[in-house]
Amino acid sequence: MSDVGDERLADVLASLGMSTPCPVVNRPVLEANLSRMADEISAKRVALRPHFKTHKSVQIAQMQADRGAAGFSCGTVGEAECLADSGFDDLFVAYPLWVDGNADRLRHLQTRARVRVGVDSVESAERLGSVVRGGLPLDIVIEVDCGLHRTGVPSGGVLPIAQAAEKSGLHVAGAFTYGGHAYTAAGAAVKAGHDEQQALLEARDALISGGFEVDVLSAGSTPTALLSAGGVVNEERPGVYVFNDRQQVEIGSCADSAVALCVAATVVSTAIPGQFVVDAGSKALSSDRLPWMQGFGNVGVRTDLVVDSLWEHHGVVKGSGGIGDARVGDIVAIRPNHVCSVVNLFDEYAITDDAGCSERWPVSARGLNS
Ligand SMILES: Cc1ncc(COP(=O)(O)O)c(C=O)c1O
Repeated sequence: MSDVGDERLADVLASLGMSTPCPVVNRPVLEANLSRMADEISAKRVALRPHFKTHKSVQIAQMQADRGAAGFSCGTVGEAECLADSGFDDLFVAYPLWVDGNADRLRHLQTRARVRVGVDSVESAERLGSVVRGGLPLDIVIEVDCGLHRTGVPSGGVLPIAQAAEKSGLHVAGAFTYGGHAYTAAGAAVKAGHDEQQALLEARDALISGGFEVDVLSAGSTPTALLSAGGVVNEERPGVYVFNDRQQVEIGSCADSAVALCVAATVVSTAIPGQFVVDAGSKALSSDRLPWMQGFGNVGVRTDLVVDSLWEHHGVVKGSGGIGDARVGDIVAIRPNHVCSVVNLFDEYAITDDAGCSERWPVSARGLNS
């Protein structure tokens, strides 16, 4: 193995009978990440409702529940169904759900779990109300935009939605926001965390002024969770923190040592000088890349050794400090840009610990994208 190769990673895959590309999780680092977030959020007396979309693993969900998670946030109804199938019974579909062909699934989910749904329009509130009318009560949480400008109404605009929801027979539980503009640059999280608090404060006041009781004021991304927790914010929904990734390191949200997942890949070509090619392309690393980032992942902790371009099954690695003596057949550890998109591309994780014990865990909700 060359100086860029990772002998231990090769041994783990061989012992599990797995081949590259493959997501490999360092269990002690995963556990430390889970415990740190759980402890720090709980010290602020705020509920932790981690986002399941990052890991999509019922094993890891159980580890979060064991550390006191109040429930789970989900990116799709399918993710919520997967958790309900495993007995998790407090679930938040954390985006503005439009019910159509999924109406029966939502009603069935309600029979198995306490379900909350995100809403950011009068139309979707009315539609949700008509779908669950005569059935079990449904909590909705109104999304407010705190600066990402993706979904959510301005905080001052929550009241018409709350009134329409109530009129439609829904229970208005509160408001939520997502400070995803924390990812726009290193250091942006401080302002984004503040924006989350401010938006929820204003949403709460608007709801109270309309006579609503406000139970839930939910914020949080991985970079902002510990910054916005407390004050009016009584719930946080970080997802990526379980594994972390290259984005988190580059924006200063976590240390190198807190990255728990890499994609193991094999060097398949060194034919062209100045680069090597691995068997991990866009179908393993995803093509996610924030506008200010270069490349699609880096090798090990060498930030200069970057997956410079991608094909479906090829990643071309180049390094400003050279490519070492990379050899065909080397197994390398690639730190992906955005771990959530990567996980959804695989059926299984390789889980390993420092004592050399390894296991295969399924990506339980893999592909449950609706
Ligand atoms: C609504 C919502 N909440 C929470 C999260 C989790 O944030 P992060 O991915 O930064 O951990 C996301 C991520 O996309 C989200 O969209």
